[in-house]
Amino acid sequence: MLAKVFSAAAQGVEASFVEVEVDLSPGQIKEFLVGLPYAAVKESLQRVRAALTNAGFAYPFNKRLTINLAPADIRKEGPIYDLPMALGLLAAADQLPAARLSDYVVAGELALDGRVRPIKGALLFALLARAQKMRGVIVPPDNAEEAAVVEGIDVLAPETLEQAVRFLSGNGELQPVRVDVKALFERESRDGLLDLADVRGQEHAKRALTVAASGGHNILMVGPPGSGKSMLAKRIPGILPPFSMEEALETTKVWSVAGKLKAHEALKFARPFRDPHHTLSYPALVGGGIDPIPGEISLAHNGVLFLDELPEFDRKAIESMRQPLEDRVITISRVAGSARFPASIMLVAAMNPCPCGHFGDLKKACKCNEFQIQRYFGRISGPLMDRIDLHVDVPHVPYEELASQAPGPDSASVRAQVLAAREIQSRRFAGSGIYCNAGMSEKQVQTFCKPDREAGQLLKNAVDALGFSARSYGRILKVARTIADLEGAESLSAAHVSEAIQYRDLDRKKGL
Ligand SMILES: Nc1ncnc2c1ncn2[C@@H]1O[C@H](COP(=O)(O)OP(=O)(O)OP(=O)(O)O)[C@@H](O)[C@H]1O
Ligand SMILES: [Mg+2]
Ligand SMILES: [Zn+2]
Repeated sequence: MLAKVFSAAAQGVEASFVEVEVDLSPGQIKEFLVGLPYAAVKESLQRVRAALTNAGFAYPFNKRLTINLAPADIRKEGPIYDLPMALGLLAAADQLPAARLSDYVVAGELALDGRVRPIKGALLFALLARAQKMRGVIVPPDNAEEAAVVEGIDVLAPETLEQAVRFLSGNGELQPVRVDVKALFERESRDGLLDLADVRGQEHAKRALTVAASGGHNILMVGPPGSGKSMLAKRIPGILPPFSMEEALETTKVWSVAGKLKAHEALKFARPFRDPHHTLSYPALVGGGIDPIPGEISLAHNGVLFLDELPEFDRKAIESMRQPLEDRVITISRVAGSARFPASIMLVAAMNPCPCGHFGDLKKACKCNEFQIQRYFGRISGPLMDRIDLHVDVPHVPYEELASQAPGPDSASVRAQVLAAREIQSRRFAGSGIYCNAGMSEKQVQTFCKPDREAGQLLKNAVDALGFSARSYGRILKVARTIADLEGAESLSAAHVSEAIQYRDLDRKKGL
């Protein structure tokens, strides 16, 4: 007899149906797996056999068994087909009525004793079930909450294979798992944020961070060890606009396919702040692997990717960020199709001004020669540096300032400025698919970044005297636009433009 169970597979952050067809027919005892299953799916059958036997079901069935995972041409990863295969087998062997089974998308790994173990991608499968007007999903308990974020479907989370069987045969109830996303969202989205007021002094750097956060600009901080770069970077999430429900869902999808959500975690409530170590590999940064998984740049989607000690990162890894920084999405090509992961991030990087760290430091003498300094900066290519809108010096704060009791602006007041500037940008870009100044195309720069006469003259002089490249020129205009937005100003004045030029410090140092 033939039985069919709906399951799913993820490509990037989308899921599509996989039909698990199980056929038991008289004949020689033999097992067939078709539909291009990989080694993992074959191992799956061993687990299914053990789980069924240990749960007290009769197996083998002394029949010829064929399992087909369709369609054949999509990659099916991992052990998520254990549970659908087990249920399909029981249905094919007439030990389970097939009627209820076809209402659900089923996914779950089985432990040898029949417990249902966590999987990747449950949120995507729940979205698929809703889009396809299915009644719901049957997923592992650890993944129930992320699936339950999707409203309008039943999320069933059996602890064991036996529980699933009892429910499907009408011999036991399973309560649909529910989460009150709205309540959770309101409670948790501001938790755990650090305050900018903890950082003493550094007014210049704080201003640059305000501008960066307002326009969504990438920023590089340069300063000696211990000057507070990491401290400042960690406070950026607290001055960014609140996470919208839509953004939260987008980010959670990435975490779900990456298998990075904690057990029972429903949603990413706060913007991600990722600070990977500089020893991380190229695929770990941008994504990859045989079964493509998202990298740090995608885990940071809608949030911050902080690369501390930028020149220490693998050159190839750093350079591979150029395309996603531009497109805000990364495509990973594989023989079995390609995967697209979103990667809309604010890049925040930090580095020392030279190999010893003390170039320009008033507290300690630098031991490096000019050649060593040039080579140090040379580890970051021009095109990458080009995608960083603001460069800011973070010098040592004098002891008196550190000790002084006067706190600078706190995150709440800076955030209010950021929100006001973003408001102007949302109106400006309504319906155009971009949200902030950093995302402007060349054409949009021409339309929205008109310097007044004095500012135009200043820019011309700066380009002549300082030799800015055409790309740097565009960056300056975008940043000047954000500075004007912070003031609520219509056109770009000389003051806006000259502040923006200040943030191109390294162009001059590097002669880019
Ligand atoms: N402006 C400041 N206000 C308050 N504390 C500060 C400030 N600057 C540095 N500190 C203190 O010094 C410590 C080191 O700062 P932080 O780790 O941010 O430096 P860094 O610039 O990232 O250094 P490195 O280049 O070594 O990574 C902080 O944990 C904090 O205690
Ligand atoms: Mg640091
Ligand atoms: Zn030095």
